[in-house]
Amino acid sequence: GLAHAVKIARGFLSDQPFVMYLGDNLLDGGIGHMLEVFNRGESEACILLTRVPNPSSFGVAVRDADGRITRLVEKPKEFISDLALVGVYVFAPVIHQIIEELKPSPRGELEITEAIQGLVTRGLRVHAEEVRGYWKDTGRLEDMLECNRKVLESVEPLVLGSVDADSQLIGRVVVEQGAVIERSTVRGPAIIGRDSVVRDTYVGPFTSIYFGCTLEDTEIEHSIVLEESTIRGVGRIEDSLIGKQVEVSPSSALPRAHRLMLGDHSRVSIASTRP
Ligand code: G1P
Repeated sequence: GLAHAVKIARGFLSDQPFVMYLGDNLLDGGIGHMLEVFNRGESEACILLTRVPNPSSFGVAVRDADGRITRLVEKPKEFISDLALVGVYVFAPVIHQIIEELKPSPRGELEITEAIQGLVTRGLRVHAEEVRGYWKDTGRLEDMLECNRKVLESVEPLVLGSVDADSQLIGRVVVEQGAVIERSTVRGPAIIGRDSVVRDTYVGPFTSIYFGCTLEDTEIEHSIVLEESTIRGVGRIEDSLIGKQVEVSPSSALPRAHRLMLGDHSRVSIASTRP
């Protein structure tokens, strides 16, 4: 659990205040404001809250009429509040003492939400405020694609790589250093990462290609491709998230078949070739 992560980082964190930022949380505007509030020295923890339609998927907080936190519960089965904890926290070192006393939750984890409850129970101050800008916990494919759109909305065109005369970049396209675009169209907003090669390909809006990828003879739109992956000759790809060092290519060996090596929780939707 998250509190266990803090526990094993204790030596590294020493007796300093610290930020815990869950890597799957996108918080537009950063955490500067939160740190400013924490640095006033008026609280032992700062948390961010936001209203969600599915509170049972989050840690949630209950506040009194003055906005003070009275109770926190991790993934409540019964509705107690729709104010979810965003996965970004600032803690004073006193949190370590509370984590020492935590017992595993019913799901077998040391819950950070219970540690914050521990602060409240001891009468220590927890500052909570609602998120001002955009926030997303990118747990699902749809969320990742939404965050990708959000990030790409603010890119400005920049070409550091090479684009040949038979290619066109339309709208806000970033071509990073060492990237090569040949006989292709890239319609922004889109990013072609460092040292990636795009050849005889259409890259449509809201696509992020990370570094060292090869896209050949294909069409891709509204998708994310992570580093060093290759997509070659497979028609059109949309609404997809492709991991690191993945290869997507037509099957050459007979019998003609889909040959797959997919990780856990993968989802594949194959366009039917039947009439
Ligand atoms: C974790 C926390 C939860 C918090 C959420 C925010 O849940 O346990 O309290 O609301 O992050 O992203 P997880 O995403 O690990 O299920």
